[in-house]
Amino acid sequence: MSKHENPYPGENNTGHFWDDEQDLRELNNRPPRWYMQAMMVGVVAVVIYSFYYPSIPWFGDHYKGSAGWTQITEMNESVAELEAYREKKFAATEKAIAESSLEDIIRDDELRTYAVKTAKTLFGDNCAACHGAAGQGNAGFPILADDDWLYGGSLAKIEQTIANGRKGNMPARMLGITDAQADELATFLIETGKGAQGNPNSASKALYMSKGCIGCHGPTLAGNQMLGSANLSDSIYRFKAEDQHASVVRTIIHGVNQGHDPQTQDAVMPAFGHSSVIDAVQLKKLVVYVHQLGGGVPVAPAPKKASVSKDPKYTPVAAKSDSFADVVVAAEANYKKNLAQNAAWRDTGKMIKEAKKSKNVALAKKANAQAVNALRQASVALTAGPTF
Ligand code: HEC
Ligand code: HEC
Repeated sequence: MSKHENPYPGENNTGHFWDDEQDLRELNNRPPRWYMQAMMVGVVAVVIYSFYYPSIPWFGDHYKGSAGWTQITEMNESVAELEAYREKKFAATEKAIAESSLEDIIRDDELRTYAVKTAKTLFGDNCAACHGAAGQGNAGFPILADDDWLYGGSLAKIEQTIANGRKGNMPARMLGITDAQADELATFLIETGKGAQGNPNSASKALYMSKGCIGCHGPTLAGNQMLGSANLSDSIYRFKAEDQHASVVRTIIHGVNQGHDPQTQDAVMPAFGHSSVIDAVQLKKLVVYVHQLGGGVPVAPAPKKASVSKDPKYTPVAAKSDSFADVVVAAEANYKKNLAQNAAWRDTGKMIKEAKKSKNVALAKKANAQAVNALRQASVALTAGPTF
């Protein structure tokens, strides 16, 4: 350690040097004026802010500020603003969803996209815990994103499922099946599930037939969507397990939803239709969402509506009033248009003549109605008929 000597005598430095060359040294100058002024402004701002906003801690509580501001009120205001915006922007679409049939929502690109997008969160909140975030299923909970349906993939079936819930029922140990028979049946089902590669044993098939399985799963093992009895021939397992053979044996011995049997396979889909969790519009959105996950039965295109021609040749003349004279004038005018279009009905002219003779308003009205009808028909035929 050498003796400390200031190499810059007379300079306004503090004597602290930060490098060996003693180039970096601490000076003791006044800060610039602009800097001090800015600091003063800051001090004043702190005082004003601490009056205006919540600030000083005070005996277990704190000074609340003159503005009444809290993070919570600010958040509530933002949420209200967002909701008002949504209400304004989407009210019409929400209304259209409420009023359209499920088929029409699927057919309409805008409604369908909106329903799917908004249902995503609903699905996440209410369904994903059991069916997986993207409907990919979980052990014990069916996949919703494929076209293998227990209860059917039409819009109506999906709606029934979500609204009313489902609870498949399969008895335990049908007709006194023994453990050995259960094992044999499981082997048979798994082999059959492999399709052409499988080599199911015909004696086992007889066992399947004789133990009543056929009643619910059918002769081809394809299942029955009325009962929700799984398809046993497609190797898609409703109760998927590491050891699929053991799972099938368990299903056969303990059944499905047999409350008295602790080892039974649980399969309860809760009913959402009468719950306060989701409302009718949300239910519709969920049906559309599940349908659109990939396995929905396609919806037929809407029947084409015949458009009525706007051509004045086909536009009926309206009677000015219900008086006999006005109705007859309208009837005659419309009948004339009928004739011009080659579309007159045989007795319209006769009815008008008779009405005029007997001054019968009712008959005149009937004649007019017929003439108007003929015009409509002619105009529809023009746009809806075959074109050559
Ligand atoms: C508590 C778990 C659980 C929740 C929550 C749940 N589900 Fe299910 N869901 C099931 C079970 C279990 C089944 C099968 C029922 C059966 O096998 O009888 C099922 C079946 C279904 C099916 C029929 C599948 C088919 O193949 O036919 C649909 C569709 C469905 N759920 C949709 C939904 C929707 C949409 C929601 C959310 C609103 C939902 N689920 C919420 C458990 C659940
Ligand atoms: C009363 C109707 C009924 C009868 C009878 C019945 N099952 Fe079932 N079975 C069902 C239903 C319903 C399910 C699907 C349960 C569900 O998903 O909710 C099912 C599911 C199964 C499964 C599970 C399939 C999978 O994908 O994991 C197997 C295996 C099975 N049954 C085999 C049999 C056999 C073998 C018999 C005859 C011994 C039989 N079942 C008799 C109604 C029946």
